[in-house]
Amino acid sequence: MTDPLTPYGNKPMVTPIVNAVNYEYRDFEVLRQITDGEIDGYTYHRDDNPTVRAVEKKIAALEGAEDCIVCTSGMAACTMVYLTYLKAGDHLILFHDIYGAHYKVSLVLERLGVEVTWLNADDSIRLEQYVKANTAMIFLETPTNPLCKIVDIVAARGVADKVGARLIVDNTFATPFHQNPLPLGAHLVVHSATKALGGHNDLMAGAIAGPKREYDKLWFTRQAIGATLDAYSASLLERGLKTFVLRSARMAENARAVAEQLRGHPRVNRLSYPGLTDDPGHAVARRQMHDGYGGIMAFDIGRTQEDAKRFISALKVVCHAVSLGSTESLICIPYLTTMLYLPPERRTTFGVKPNTVRLSVGIEPVENILEDLNQALNAV
Ligand SMILES: Cc1ncc(COP(=O)(O)O)c(C=O)c1O
Repeated sequence: MTDPLTPYGNKPMVTPIVNAVNYEYRDFEVLRQITDGEIDGYTYHRDDNPTVRAVEKKIAALEGAEDCIVCTSGMAACTMVYLTYLKAGDHLILFHDIYGAHYKVSLVLERLGVEVTWLNADDSIRLEQYVKANTAMIFLETPTNPLCKIVDIVAARGVADKVGARLIVDNTFATPFHQNPLPLGAHLVVHSATKALGGHNDLMAGAIAGPKREYDKLWFTRQAIGATLDAYSASLLERGLKTFVLRSARMAENARAVAEQLRGHPRVNRLSYPGLTDDPGHAVARRQMHDGYGGIMAFDIGRTQEDAKRFISALKVVCHAVSLGSTESLICIPYLTTMLYLPPERRTTFGVKPNTVRLSVGIEPVENILEDLNQALNAV
């Protein structure tokens, strides 16, 4: 049968957006072949979609993975991982230094009988002391959100292997341009594709990359809970990926210049950027990251939250907004935004202060960013 999209063999340059929820079966034999897994075919959007499948293959290639499964958001991806691999009685190790919404998910997991232990990224060298016979999963970010601390992926895999736990690495901050956790030992890589993979603040998506057999398990969960991405967002994500390498290189280059300017500024304290040679995470970052150190950094402004607010309010180029990894430079006070999900006493346990800011450097002309940050620092 002639493919209506390629009647003369000419393929569209862009994966078509297939909005169909369901597909008309050619006959019962085709239905049987699809449901028995003998042929690839589409039946219902919650199961699979060709636009989504195309972008999954591209993210898998970026991560050097056999396959990738995409879903509705980064948190949906993390939750799919938890639901697929954890059961009552299992022990999960989480780092305080991860995206705040994990705390909420951890409350749900505890209600379902999963035991959760939290540790600080600074304590990751003592990770071995935290694992137990029932530790089923270690979930980490590196660099961490928001303080950009570095966790040694190879060492974490060594500890996970002692008890047969799965190591999951959220690679959202580093992106596959700078870091590929799978060859370093992660069992699975998770992304908020809302961030640098999409890159334009116009879509929400999550991705999990890893071996094909894990795709099948994760697919089961996605199909069951209905977290399949819509085709339009998948198409936007595919378009974002076309410039991913260019954007990532520019962000890292801009971020390095910004970090160099900010270091030593009298109103900037505790600047954390793994690309700085005196950063505590630099040695490990140099081993496990490549082609630079990404576009994100964290630092304290002055001494109080009022100082940080004055600084942010004076910015003209850098936007005061959550999220990260986009074409625009974005800045926020995590204490008032991403950490808001945490009870107040937990917000500061791992080093975030009320005047800490997280800056995601964009692809604007670097002189515009540098000048903007400078004039805003003078306003503090
Ligand atoms: C490192 C990291 N992981 C996961 C998430 C969650 O992603 P999403 O907002 O797409 O659900 C975020 C969100 O900021 C994040 O920064």
